[in-house]
Amino acid sequence: MENIRRPENMQRINTPELAQAFIDEQLAALREQIGEQKVLLALSGGVDSSVVAALLIQAVGKQLTCVHVNHGLLRKGEPEQVIEVFRNQMKANLIYVDAVDRFLNKLAGVAEPEKKRHIIGEEFIDVFAEEARKLEDVKFLAQGTIWPDILESDAGIKAHHNAGGLPDDIADRFELVEPVRVLFKDEVRVVGKQLGLPDSMVYRQPFPGPGLGVRCVGAITRDRLEAVRESDAILREEFAKNGLAGKIWQYFTIVPDFKSTGMTDGRRTYEWPVVVRAVNTVDAVTADVAELDFNMMAHIVDRITHEVKGVNRVLWDLTPKPTGTIEWE
Ligand code: XMP
Repeated sequence: MENIRRPENMQRINTPELAQAFIDEQLAALREQIGEQKVLLALSGGVDSSVVAALLIQAVGKQLTCVHVNHGLLRKGEPEQVIEVFRNQMKANLIYVDAVDRFLNKLAGVAEPEKKRHIIGEEFIDVFAEEARKLEDVKFLAQGTIWPDILESDAGIKAHHNAGGLPDDIADRFELVEPVRVLFKDEVRVVGKQLGLPDSMVYRQPFPGPGLGVRCVGAITRDRLEAVRESDAILREEFAKNGLAGKIWQYFTIVPDFKSTGMTDGRRTYEWPVVVRAVNTVDAVTADVAELDFNMMAHIVDRITHEVKGVNRVLWDLTPKPTGTIEWE
């Protein structure tokens, strides 16, 4: 792979004008690199791949094919938003793969966190490779690699995810296209905003690759997974209403695999708890618990216990990192 360097004198992209200059430069470079050829992109809906998609749509339009794999572990509304923004509004070629059953069947009964991660990662590559094999004459593979990914892989902290793990017959077929590789995350967001992506996509909180799978503690079941998804949606809605979206680094819910006794309408219940976690951090290596308004939390407890099926109790995780990690698995 070519040796990528962020130009030493490169200005931090923090204004719409600088973002537009970057976009213009990249569009010209992408057209030059790609010519009349076709490009493939795995589009998760995260900010990096979404910005890459938006750039490529402007640069080469229908020469781009996006593949969005729904593994069943996405947040509420995410697959719908990807389809709405990229297929309906931006008119991209978008292949939507409903792989929910496939992932959940593979994960059934698997409780060990790293094994869950491994299965999700492998299955994702398999599904994407199957789609890639169906397409003919595709020369380029686009990726949302950003500058910290390159720094981390240089430092040996984590493998750079370039074509990472794709089977050889697929990886060898493609040349990489990485239009945001010299950008830091905050710069990707400024560029995304300038490209007209919705705020809910541009300013979204970090979301782990294994998605809600690591927040549905232990062996994933469909009913507990729905409880994670629904409670997460309520939490995000209430944080947004209170002006906290984009202000707190990461906030989400977890559903453990135990039940406790409760009472609803005078009847005994025996149901799961939902754990609320909200943290602030600079680099995710350490993290502080976010201080939250007690009345807001009481309202969230009320909504989650009344609106989420199978849940009778809400807990608030007040553990910093260390000793807790941010995710529960
Ligand atoms: P932890 O739980 O280790 O998380 O304190 C630190 C940050 O990394 C995210 N995270 C992941 N991201 N794949 C990812 O892409 C993963 O398997 C994964 N595990 C944790 C986590 O959400 C937090 O932002």
